[in-house]
Amino acid sequence: MPTRPERIPIGADHAGFELKQILIEELARRGILAEDVGTHSTDSTDYADYAHPVAHEVETGVAKRGILMCGTGLGMSYAANRHHGVRAAVAWTPEIAKLAREHNDANVLVLPARFVDADTARAILGAWLDTPFEGGRHARRIAKIEDAT
Ligand code: RB5
Repeated sequence: MPTRPERIPIGADHAGFELKQILIEELARRGILAEDVGTHSTDSTDYADYAHPVAHEVETGVAKRGILMCGTGLGMSYAANRHHGVRAAVAWTPEIAKLAREHNDANVLVLPARFVDADTARAILGAWLDTPFEGGRHARRIAKIEDAT
């Protein structure tokens, strides 16, 4: 039976809108379906309105992983990381994206759209998509994140 293509929820505010369109094309090139939760123009919006639906899908297991972008990546990561089990990592180089997978099992990739060019963003996305979690000592460390009182 043919396997269904993975579907990844993706969201951006106005600062990330153009980069989102570029990464949706890059996902399609890789045979991955993007579920575009918006925004759909460069009109001013609030990042949390897009972070929460994407993070909710990952929190509830509807999606295995998600992608977000805003100007710095920070607002999106703050909002997404409020969701249980979500590990949203801001990555501005492919190396950071790779380490975010290997060491931190990042299940949401956040890009700082105003600080990365299109080619760098494609490379960041590729590193995050293709790198597995290392497990081992890193799994122990991730488990301790839940220890917050
Ligand atoms: C929007 O101007 C900007 O504040 C937003 O995209 C983001 O950088 C917030 O963290």
